[in-house]
Formats: sequence, C-alpha cells, structure tokens
Amino acid sequence: MQFLSKACIQGCGGMTRRALLKTAAAGAGALAFSSPTVSAQQALRSVAERKGLIYGAATAIQLLQSDQGYADLVASQAGMLVAEGHTKRASLQPDNRHFSFANADALLQFADTHQQRMRGHTLVWHRANPDWLETTMKNNPDERLLTDYIAAVCTRYKGRFHSWDVVNEPVDPDQGHPDGLRTKSIWYQAFGERYIDIAFHAARQADPGVKLYLNETTTEANIWWSQARRTSILKLIDRLLARNVPINGFGMEAHLAGFGVDYSQKVIADFVRELTTRGLEVLVTELDISDRSGPRDPLVRDTGVASLTKLFLDAVFSVEGAKGCLTWGISDKYSWLSVTPRFNREDGLRSRGLPFDENFKPKPMFDAMVAAYSNAPDRRDL
Ligand code: G3I
Repeated sequence: MQFLSKACIQGCGGMTRRALLKTAAAGAGALAFSSPTVSAQQALRSVAERKGLIYGAATAIQLLQSDQGYADLVASQAGMLVAEGHTKRASLQPDNRHFSFANADALLQFADTHQQRMRGHTLVWHRANPDWLETTMKNNPDERLLTDYIAAVCTRYKGRFHSWDVVNEPVDPDQGHPDGLRTKSIWYQAFGERYIDIAFHAARQADPGVKLYLNETTTEANIWWSQARRTSILKLIDRLLARNVPINGFGMEAHLAGFGVDYSQKVIADFVRELTTRGLEVLVTELDISDRSGPRDPLVRDTGVASLTKLFLDAVFSVEGAKGCLTWGISDKYSWLSVTPRFNREDGLRSRGLPFDENFKPKPMFDAMVAAYSNAPDRRDL
C-alpha cells in the first residue's frame, strides 16, 4: 500500500474544481467517476467477498418495506446488515414489562432471505435507553437491569448474529476522567468501569459463538481530540484483556468529516495495528462522510468524499486483522447526516456522504470503495 501521508482532504474546500478532481483521481487510483449502473460482479458485497472482506450497511425495516428500489439496492449490495435503531434498548424494551422484537426480527428475516449476515447494535449505550430505565437506574440501580436484558436479547438471537456491539462509545476524554472514560452515563454512574466487564461476560454467557465488540466514535482523525480517544481506548482494552474480559473486536465507527479535518493513513493504520496486535479484529462499523463544510458543487463534494473514503479504507485494509466495512446507510436518500441539524449544510442541500445518491445511482464514493476493496490484500487463505 502506498501511504499518501496527510490527507489531501484537508483544505479541499479551497482548491479549484479542476485541481481537486486531479488530486482525488490520483489519490483514488484513477477512479472511474459516475458509473451509471452496477453489475452483480461489481456489487460491493461481491467485490468484498472476493477478498475475504465484509461490506455491509445500516438500514431500517420500514424503508425496506416501503421503498422497493431501496430494498433492491440493499439486497444486492450489502453482505451484512445492522439496524440503525431496531436493536437499541429503547426499541427492544420500550417498557419494563415487554420486549418488542418485531422490527429486529423482520430485519433478520430480510437478511436471511438475501443471504446477508447481521450485526447487533448495541447492548449498552449512554443513549437510546427507554425513559423508564433512565429513571430506575438513577433511583434504584440494579445490576440485573444490565444482565437480564443482555441475557434476554442475546439468547433470542443466539447463533443468528455475526457480532454484537456490546458496549458503545465508552470513552469521552472531554468529561475529565483520568482514564478518559465517559462518566455521563447511567451505567458508569451506577457501576463505574465494571459495567463494561459485566456486559461482556453476560453476552458471552448467553451466546458463546457471537463476536463481541466494543464500538467507538471519532478515533480516526489526525488531531489531538481523536488521539486522546485512541489513547483512552487502547488503555481501556489493555485493562479489559488483563481482567480476561471476553472481547473479540473493535468497531471503528468512522463518521468522518470531509473538507477541513486532517486524516493520516499512517495514524489510521498504526491504530488498527495496535488493536490487532492485541488480538482483536477490527471492523469499520458506521462509515459516512460529512460534506457539511464542502462547496456547493456536487461533483467537487463527491470527489472529496471519494478521496477521503479511499485514503481511509486503504489504510484500514492494509492491516491483516481488519475485516471490512459497513456504511451508516447506503443511499443519500436516507442518511442521518441529512436529518441531524449539526450536520446540515447552510445552503440546505442534501448531504452526499454515502456511496449511492438519492436515486440509487453509484457515486464516486462507490468507485472509491470498489477500488479499496479490490486493492486490499486477500484474506481468504488466512
Ligand atoms: O422513531 C421516532 C419517531 O416516532 C419520532 O416521531 C421522531 C421525533 O424526533 O423520533 C424518532 O426516533 C428517532 C430515531 O433516530 C429514529 O429516527 C430518535 O428521536 C433519534 O434520536 C434517533 O437517532 C438515532 C441515534 O443514533 C440515536 O439512537 C439515529 O437515527 C442514528 O443514526 C444514530 O446512530 C448512531 C449510532 O447508533 C452510534 N454511533 C453514532 C450514530 C450517529 O449518531
């Protein structure tokens, strides 16, 4: 792999259109821009599988059931699915007497029908908890509120999921904890760091075969706040391993910021290697690229997004223990980036941070992903 070192994406907004297209094409290995249709051979799931890698996407059953074009895209492109919301606790246990598995079950059925594997996201998080749980944990915390839930959910999907994000986003160095842990969480406040151990052990007990991941955000950039998260995560993983916590993988969310944030292939690959030398596998779990700070011209934005995608995936895939990538959505028609105010563009234009546009046509980001998977070392014999 050729390291491009610091990302050309830094300051992309100031380049001329021609200069940017030229730079991106060089960085992305002369991407074939705007291919109008995708053959089965070119589908991301096929391109990934040919290298023993995974490509998948986050989705929602309501979209799959209401939009046939979208459902066809997800079925043909993704080899793995993850629910954007259905397997979070607020969805699965909206009240303290009943579980609500219908949406997650329906998504699993869609995945089975299309020979797709499925991940669970996420068992323990400081967000997306039902109100009743927040209140009970504050007034009357009980370890069984953690373990009984994990046992119930992991048992229901035992043998059916490839992996679970057991604990999501446990670090946030901004919160002042000496080890960089996220303290503003019902789980940390009740049990301290021990909640992580409890959760992994409960998940392992309920499903001995599923891979157990710790998932974290914002560990990718070449900037001090991302470095602080990388340091906190590696130290946390060292403590978990020293206590024999059954952790198998690290999920690198990769909600990347185009046009202004610096990314370095060396920094990214070094971090992935630090994780894999500790015996963990690494999956990019939520890739998308914010173009909030990009210019108006969609082709310039698409080119910058593609260039950063290629830079990032080349670096990740260069490390043997990296297993693949899921995007957080697949088409710009349905992206959290477009419905989340802090990522909205001032000009009101739709975010273009996913591999397919709102009409399900592949964009330069798709070409960048095909190129990154195609250039990746073959894992099939490992
Ligand atoms: O379903 C209700 C709907 O009935 C109601 O009318 C509407 C009003 O706001 O809210 C709907 O629920 C929203 C849900 O998404 C479904 O759209 C929640 O308010 C909203 O908080 C929720 O946001 C999700 C967020 O996680 C919290 O669960 C985003 O879609 C989802 O993209 C985001 O995903 C996270 C990952 O889990 C972890 N990593 C970061 C990533 C992005 O923030």
